[in-house]
Amino acid sequence: MGSYGMLAKRAVLTDTPVMVQIQELLRGVKGAVSLAQGVVYWQPPRTALEKVQELVWEPSISRYGADEGLPELREALTKKLREENNLCKSSVMVTAGANQAFVNIVLTLCDAGDSVVMFAPYYFNAYMAFQMTGVTDILVGPGDPNTLYPDADWLEKTLRETKPTPKLVTVVNPGNPSGTYIPEPLLKKISDICKNAGCWLVVDNTYEYFMYDGLKHSCIEGNHIVNIFSFSKAYGMMGWRVGYIAFPSEVDGFAAQLLKIQDNIPICAPIISQRLALHSMEVGSQWVTDQVKDLVKNRELLVDALSPLGEGAVKGGEGAIYLWAKLPEKFAKDFEVVRWLANKHGVVLIPGSPCGCPGHIRISFGGLVEADCRLASERLKKGLEELVRDGMV
Ligand SMILES: Cc1ncc(COP(=O)(O)O)c(C=O)c1O
Repeated sequence: MGSYGMLAKRAVLTDTPVMVQIQELLRGVKGAVSLAQGVVYWQPPRTALEKVQELVWEPSISRYGADEGLPELREALTKKLREENNLCKSSVMVTAGANQAFVNIVLTLCDAGDSVVMFAPYYFNAYMAFQMTGVTDILVGPGDPNTLYPDADWLEKTLRETKPTPKLVTVVNPGNPSGTYIPEPLLKKISDICKNAGCWLVVDNTYEYFMYDGLKHSCIEGNHIVNIFSFSKAYGMMGWRVGYIAFPSEVDGFAAQLLKIQDNIPICAPIISQRLALHSMEVGSQWVTDQVKDLVKNRELLVDALSPLGEGAVKGGEGAIYLWAKLPEKFAKDFEVVRWLANKHGVVLIPGSPCGCPGHIRISFGGLVEADCRLASERLKKGLEELVRDGMV
């Protein structure tokens, strides 16, 4: 029934979600292990879950709440932003996850036809958020070939020379899909370039607690900066759908416009989920850090599994839950490699193409406990050895 002609171009011309394709692949391969989805293996803190279990009969749980989020959660978040992130002049809106936060921000700040800037490899859902809102002029900047840090010189030149000036620049810190973190001096430099050009900077801090090797995540604040956060990975709350936006309090009209978007999409984030978020925060961020530190072992196993790709092929991984690897030159068709690895070796990854980098793969080290990760890395290593030696036979 019907034809594509009857469907909105904004949807039809938006990329197909890679996770949906990969989930289909996973369902089709019996016994496959997944290094694909960006998830963590833990559940929310036990005491927080127990408190929420008792809440379901409370009438307020079944009603709508304030669009901006429960006052007590926003208060706790304002304190957290001030104490942990050094963000003192930001207002908070609670959303149904960081992805919804990002769409809210794009709808609040960008008009169809505006140009925006991302850096490769980029987060596919952010790219899709632009596409589906008519912000189709997406300028993709390079990363440093060794560190994958966003190229600030390219940014400066691009913002200076592109007319009209791009409306918004976005980065993920530490990154999805690369796991690369952005050192504070570089983040400040990017921020200054955006400020001087009259352009917004949106920083996705979903993985703020996922830092390794003594590195420290930092945020910056300004009247041209929006910071996005998520409860999904930190507190193992993927399915509860809670994230939040820290936006500049001093910018006239920002809150009012953001509220219009929020009121038309979720109205409010699920109330029970917000209560769980609050109780999880009461347990504290040290709990998150304790979970995260064990992921180093998974990362080690997977770095070894990727060794057949050769020296210099594996990048990132100093933050978030991802390693990023280049396939040998002749395997630019990364979807084919991912399918082959799934079907022949029972291990599933994400191809680099949906992140703007064909010929690459993303490996997630957050979703499996160490024993399962060991199995996945054995399969991956065997598969990659075979790929490099014999091709996809
Ligand atoms: C960079 C980044 N932003 C946002 C999200 C989505 O998070 P949420 O579950 O809070 O919507 C993810 C999930 O993988 C992510 O990696």
